[in-house]
Parts: sequence; C-alpha cells; structure tokens
Amino acid sequence: MIETVRAVLSQAADYRRQVGRPYITLSYAQSLDGSIARRRGAPLAISGPMAQQFTHQLRALHDAILVGIGTVISDNPRLTVRLVTGPNPQVVIVDSQLRTPLSAQVLRAERGPWLATTAAADRGRAQALERSGARPVPLPALPNGWVDLGALLDWLGAADVNSLMVEGGSRIITSFLAQGSVNQVILTIAPLLVGGLRAVESPLATPTGHSLRLANLSVSPCGDDLIVRGELAGQG
Ligand SMILES: NC(=O)c1ccc[n+]([C@@H]2O[C@H](COP(=O)([O-])OP(=O)(O)OC[C@H]3O[C@@H](n4cnc5c(N)ncnc54)[C@H](OP(=O)(O)O)[C@@H]3O)[C@@H](O)[C@H]2O)c1
Repeated sequence: MIETVRAVLSQAADYRRQVGRPYITLSYAQSLDGSIARRRGAPLAISGPMAQQFTHQLRALHDAILVGIGTVISDNPRLTVRLVTGPNPQVVIVDSQLRTPLSAQVLRAERGPWLATTAAADRGRAQALERSGARPVPLPALPNGWVDLGALLDWLGAADVNSLMVEGGSRIITSFLAQGSVNQVILTIAPLLVGGLRAVESPLATPTGHSLRLANLSVSPCGDDLIVRGELAGQG
C-alpha cells in the first residue's frame, strides 16, 4: 500500500503545476460504524500500533498536513512523524478566528504552523501567535465566517505545496469532501463500534445526486485494522 501511495505522490509536483493546487489525501481513522471520536471534543484511540506507524509513514510522504481548529483544541496533536524516519510535514491549521491555544503542541514544532484564518481574527492574537512561531495566513471567509478552502488551496499551491494530507476532524473532512477537492482517500478502519462523532456530518452527493464512489480500490490488513485506499476525481 505505501508503495502505491509513494508512486502516486511522486506525480504530485506535476499535478500542482497543472492545477495550481496541491494533490490532496484525505486520511483518518474510524470505527466500523464510521465514528472518529466518542463525541465532538472527546478523543478516542482508534488505530492500533501498526496503523499508527502507517499514518506516520503517510505524513512523511506529504509536504503539508492539515487539521481543523476543533481537532487542535480537542486532541492537542503534534502532527509529526515521530514513529518513523522522515521529514515532518508543514502543519496547516484551519482556524478562522485564531483560537489556536498558545500552549498547543503544534507551536513547538521546528517549523511553526501556518494558520489559515480570516479578517475576523483579532490582530493582537495574531501577533501573540506569531511570537510563538506560527504564521497566520489571512484568507477570504465564507458567508458563515469559515475559511474559504478553495482560496487556501490556491495559496498552498502558490507556496509550492505539492501534496497535502487532510486528517480531520469531522467538519474539515465534510467540507473537503463537499468541495470536491480530495484526490485520494486512505482510511484506517478499526474493529470497534462506537456510536460516536461521525466522520462525515452531512449527506454528500455528486451533481447527479449519486454518493461519492472511490475508484482503484485497495484494502490491506494492518495489525487488527484495515487500511482502505481509493481515488476520487478531485476537481483541484
Ligand atoms: N479519528 C481521527 O482520525 C480523527 C482525526 C482528527 C480529529 N478527530 C476528532 O474530530 C473531532 C474534531 O472535529 P470537529 O468537527 O469538531 O473539528 P475540526 O473539523 O477539527 O475543525 C472544525 C473547525 O474548523 C474551523 N473551520 C474554518 N473554516 C472551516 C471550513 N471551511 N470547513 C470546516 N471547518 C472550518 C471552524 O472553527 P472556527 O469557526 O473557529 O474557525 C470549525 O468548527 C475531535 O473530537 C477529534 O478527536 C478524529
């Protein structure tokens, strides 16, 4: 599986040059019933040790890794590749109001995180986060105040980010899928039933009303978990 991903990502620079945006991998861990947390803000250990290592290998193959501010506040992740040898990806946090805590572990990385934000963010807050090593990136807002992800992808493309791994949480997963910009999906599916926070929050459909279907599917056991990979016709 990792060799397939490596081969696909070796084309990411060409993809970014053609489309102007990074090649996007959506990757997260879910239970058999599609839960990614016990409830919003209550993290849950889902992947086994082998799948965790696989996830770190995936991270090392991408230029950048993205999560929403909900995940930073809930899980305080490091988003590094500490279980394998390889480069840490550039961290990107989607955070329209700059709620990233100054104590967040992502601020301790060697390269500070990029905070995709909007004009609604407080200027003093931006300066405090900059002093902690972060780089706020002001972008257009959607009508609900959230960051315009299309504008973010254009900005990342212009910053020479060839490949982007999107790890969650639920709102971010839903927004990326709804926007049609995901190129490949790589899920860890653990043998758990949780009845918790669903990975995808609202119905997704193509313009013809069909659900999104993965192509070129592969499935591999990974310890007690399954890794499922497939491609979506990303619209860039
Ligand atoms: N199992 C896994 O692999 C996995 C991975 C990651 C997270 N999780 C779980 O997911 C949960 C967090 O998910 P979540 O849905 O609460 O938060 P999230 O998806 O991490 O972040 C969502 C927040 O991002 C901001 N945002 C800005 N622009 C956005 C846009 N265009 N689309 C979507 N969000 C945008 C919004 O906050 P503002 O309005 O403040 O900007 C929004 O509430 C946690 O419980 C965590 O444990 C699980």
